[in-house]
Amino acid sequence: MVNVEKSVEAKITKLETQSENKVMDLAASWYIAMQSKELGKKPQAIQLFGRPLVAWRDKLGKPVIMERFCSHMGASLAIGQIIDGCIQCPFHHWRYDSSGVCVDIPKVATPTTDVIPSTARQHTYVTQEKYGYIWVWYGSVNPLFPLPKFDPAESDKHNYMSYRFFSKTKTTVLRVLENSFDHHHVVVTHNLPIINQIKQTLLNKEDIKISELSIAKEAWFGTVMEAQIKSYAGVGAIAKFLGLNVETWKTRLDAWPSGSLGTTSFNGQQKIRVLSGITPISENQTTWHLLFMIKKTGNLWLDLLSYIVFGWQNEVAVSADVVIWDTMSAKTGQAFIKPDQPVLKFRQFYQSWVDKAQ
Ligand code: FES
Ligand SMILES: [Fe+2]
Repeated sequence: MVNVEKSVEAKITKLETQSENKVMDLAASWYIAMQSKELGKKPQAIQLFGRPLVAWRDKLGKPVIMERFCSHMGASLAIGQIIDGCIQCPFHHWRYDSSGVCVDIPKVATPTTDVIPSTARQHTYVTQEKYGYIWVWYGSVNPLFPLPKFDPAESDKHNYMSYRFFSKTKTTVLRVLENSFDHHHVVVTHNLPIINQIKQTLLNKEDIKISELSIAKEAWFGTVMEAQIKSYAGVGAIAKFLGLNVETWKTRLDAWPSGSLGTTSFNGQQKIRVLSGITPISENQTTWHLLFMIKKTGNLWLDLLSYIVFGWQNEVAVSADVVIWDTMSAKTGQAFIKPDQPVLKFRQFYQSWVDKAQ
């Protein structure tokens, strides 16, 4: 009898492990599960990393992300209830705590509580809630580096206006991420009105002081793009009158394997800080989240105009990328030219973190 039970347990453990196998070529990293405001008091069915999951909040309101189907007989915990900070399965009412351990099986089913099988547990992910997003770590039990720091959306918030949006696209995570390093397309796809060419320089890890970084050095990839431009704001005389007309454009990107922090300056003045993050739903379903923090000037009308111009302009720019991504073959391409170097280098960097994912 004992042996039978043991072999049943072994089988279940095997199945459980299989369900956690990698289904996507994803870097070990921090991803966005959803916006904070999307997760209320009720559990919610979500899909991430190609896996069916459930998101809910524990007693303290901390987000929990765990595998969706109950370890007992597979009911969806997304239609369960939150009771005493635990999630209760809708079927036989087993309860799981925020670490995924089954802490209670109704007494009607078992005379004592010490028979909770050790396999009665749900795989859970490390989460963190920041900058209006629920972040989730993928690739190892414990995060290999801390969540990047983005002060414009936290301690330095009062100096900025925020413009948040997201785009859903039918391509891979890598195609979306590498787009930020593709300065070639910025001119032709997004019509950035440059005078000569964009100069892109990859930053050298050895030259950067740790204190300058908001991302752990081992998980950091940086680049600077600069150009002389005609008029970024593109609204001619009005822009000029309001002082939005610019001559030099410079963007520094500090990236981690699945996102980036951008700093854009016009005429040498920092104007926009951007947080970019990814929701990896399945192989060809990716959501790109962008949080633009636009520096306030103190002039209400100028601020309002720059908010509309920069916010709107960036949303339009992303929609031009989405048309390309939705129809492209993400696994194709082998003819490259010199301006593609930063993209190719980023691919190498990304792959080194795919290799770290277990
Ligand atoms: S299926 Fe969840 S408790 Fe039975
Ligand atoms: Fe783009």
